[in-house]
Amino acid sequence: MQQKIIILDFGSQTTQLIGRRVRELDTFCEILPYNKFPHDDPSVIGVILSGSPFSVYDETAFKVDLTHIRGKYPILGICYGAQYMSYLYGGNVEPAGSREYGRQNLTSFEHDNPLFKGFSENSQVWMSHGDTITALPEGFREIASTPTVKNAAYQAPNGEKLWGVQFHPEVFHSVQGSLLLKNFVVDICGSRQDWSAASFVDTTVAEIKKQVGTDRVILGLSGGVDSSVCAVLLNRAIGKNLTCIFVDHGMLRKNEFQDVMRDYEVLGLNVIGVNASDKFLIDLAGVTDPEEKRKIIGRDFIEVFNAEAKKITDAKWLAQGTIYPDRIESLNITGKVIKSHHNVGGLPEEMRLSLCEPLKWLFKDEVRRVGRQLGMPEHLITRHPFPGPGLAVRILGDITREKVRILQDADDIYIRSLREYKMKLKGEEARRILAAGVPADMKDGEIEVSLYDQIWQAGTILLSSVRSVGVMGDERTYEHPVALRAVTSTDAMTADWAHLPYDFMAKVSTEIINKVKGVNRVCYDISSKPPSTIEWE
Ligand code: XMP
Repeated sequence: MQQKIIILDFGSQTTQLIGRRVRELDTFCEILPYNKFPHDDPSVIGVILSGSPFSVYDETAFKVDLTHIRGKYPILGICYGAQYMSYLYGGNVEPAGSREYGRQNLTSFEHDNPLFKGFSENSQVWMSHGDTITALPEGFREIASTPTVKNAAYQAPNGEKLWGVQFHPEVFHSVQGSLLLKNFVVDICGSRQDWSAASFVDTTVAEIKKQVGTDRVILGLSGGVDSSVCAVLLNRAIGKNLTCIFVDHGMLRKNEFQDVMRDYEVLGLNVIGVNASDKFLIDLAGVTDPEEKRKIIGRDFIEVFNAEAKKITDAKWLAQGTIYPDRIESLNITGKVIKSHHNVGGLPEEMRLSLCEPLKWLFKDEVRRVGRQLGMPEHLITRHPFPGPGLAVRILGDITREKVRILQDADDIYIRSLREYKMKLKGEEARRILAAGVPADMKDGEIEVSLYDQIWQAGTILLSSVRSVGVMGDERTYEHPVALRAVTSTDAMTADWAHLPYDFMAKVSTEIINKVKGVNRVCYDISSKPPSTIEWE
């Protein structure tokens, strides 16, 4: 049976990160709303209580009865999770005099406590809370402190497997945070650490065979990582009974449709490529409002996809590359569960297709690992996310064939240059890149990585409603600027602009202006999200 850790979500922004860290320990975990513990699930081996934006004294704070959990499973409370257990069992939680936030050092900790096995002196941890535990429940004892946070960590009496830490072991700035989680998940909960890409592929292929049998399955491909990995996995399970549909709406990257179709054919997929660019471009003519553009593209996409899907009259299943972060029911501060489930959407009722979502338990980095396990080419696996409406949301103003051509040419230079520009990284930077799953060999403490692989997403934006004066040779030009965008991120919820090297920017700018007719100026977008967004529209 697949062992699992349950992470009860009290609404913290870092709950998903806890999940990722546990998975990095080759251990399966599920993130569930704080009050949805699966009491009947025999595969649970431990429980983590997440942080929360609330104070335990807020009337609306999330509270849950732990009677049937405490004593049955090892428990680790993080931040609010620690404060909540302290409050629940009779301790005292009060507003911290000055907000306890940022880097701190564990100046004292219980060296023989299993939670701190292997910890070094003065280990740096990350605090982020407005409340603090001023008195522990009867019998509980402090097992770590920092110069300003007394009960930085505690344990229940008599060796009971119940711990609380007021810092966040899941964040990057808690230097030994992963070690703490390993101590909990592996040593204390007894994880066998058998959740791996290889085991996932084996069990999922077997499950798909059982679920789908000899039925025909339809899958919409986008060229992106998730749908591509989903297709290759299904292909491994059911071969030619999988029919993939890849729609070209005319606003993909330069040559992307042909390149990706070729990749899919090499991978042995049964793909129908539909070139519908005329339809999309006609329907979008003269439309400038971003939401209106999205609506038209969404509607046209469903029409084109459905027309193809309906031809496959014996199809019984619709497969989708939905991944775990698309489905996690995250809690917002009002206590409402928000669901953001992407769907191909609107397939005709009469087709009565059942849904098959084999990647629904995976985080993005795990999808990439599964792709590698399946032998997919690296350029498909490390591909940046790309919005469904494509370049339409990167052309400000109305869309014409000529504008798409200009943007495709400029973007092609930018993306190719990002792939070609290699940098040597070491220390923390190298560790961060390797932890994100980028395949790079460490040699003499250094790795060599392209700029493309160091960033989350990059793209070019055509400011087609703006013209500016320039001079080329002896001629005055009056043409459009393009903006280059590159961001670092882990989940696209927040993003920082990437600090690209100046020599790189100079080279790309020169090449774009020299080679792309219609562009005479290149800008770099230095806005972060929030308050900006990754896409311009
Ligand atoms: P924003 O611009 O909201 O983007 O910061 C966050 C992530 O979502 C992608 N994105 C989209 N993806 N349809 C999509 O399939 C869309 O309409 C859309 N808009 C933004 C964006 O590329 C980034 O990865």
